[in-house]
Amino acid sequence: MKVRKAVIPAAGLGTRMLPATKTVPKEMLPMVDKPVIQYIIEEAVAAGIEDILIVTNRAKSAMDDYFDYYPELETRLNQAGKERELIEVRRAADLANIFYVRQKETKGLGHAIWRAKRFVGDEPFAVLLGDDIMRAKKPVTAQLVEAAEKYNACAVGVQKVSTEAISKYSSVKVSPLEERIFSVSDMNEKPRPEQIFSNYAILGRYVLTPAIFGILENVRPGYGGEIQLTDGLRELCLRDKMVAVDFEGRRYDTGNLNGFLEATIDFALDHPATGPWLRRFIREKAAQL
Ligand code: G1P
Repeated sequence: MKVRKAVIPAAGLGTRMLPATKTVPKEMLPMVDKPVIQYIIEEAVAAGIEDILIVTNRAKSAMDDYFDYYPELETRLNQAGKERELIEVRRAADLANIFYVRQKETKGLGHAIWRAKRFVGDEPFAVLLGDDIMRAKKPVTAQLVEAAEKYNACAVGVQKVSTEAISKYSSVKVSPLEERIFSVSDMNEKPRPEQIFSNYAILGRYVLTPAIFGILENVRPGYGGEIQLTDGLRELCLRDKMVAVDFEGRRYDTGNLNGFLEATIDFALDHPATGPWLRRFIREKAAQL
């Protein structure tokens, strides 16, 4: 099983980050010096993925402009001797083969993934949710691809969350296969207390087979009246082999204000241009609190 393609659903309305996301796509908000979506694309590329489809909507054209060349800007940077900036601006456009399709109607994550059917064809593919940035030594997508290849199975990225938090996610029914890897036999989107299978929640990363498309075509609206990817995966795991990978790394939900700020601080602390300064600034601030 060789995973060469990835799908990034990025067609949400960004309602948890208003008013900032009224005209700027949430995926384009700056995380230190790069937009959120670039971290996701870099993770996919680091897992050996060459072709990436971003599922967008009519308010997201800033994303395809970003991954394009910008000759006027590049000429200006060149003339001004701004070599580092020039390299970074060019690099974003050369990261991967990026394709786009519009969701057209906001009908849920499952419906957004279904729009990737033609792009995916008959190969396995990775899904990286556009809001979820991972900070990990080994890219989380690479961890999933490895498990999917080893078990010749679909894979979902999971971590344990608290019982209060699980109702915000999907809860998976798991039985252990080896350290950090489980087999999956059932799951529930946004479970009520009596529906919780385990505290393992799927967190934004998947490796799937095209069998999901036929299933999604027939999935009825679920939680929130939307076509839920989890409802499709539930059927997929009943039919085919699926593993859950308790991945190593920290996940940030950049689609809400707190998660966005946590990620900003952690990434700025890691960044050579801002890290030393931010450390001093936080110490000074903490002393005043
Ligand atoms: C989505 C998925 C859910 C998953 C969560 C975190 O929910 O539907 O299964 O657990 O992402 O990756 P949302 O954040 O869109 O409510």
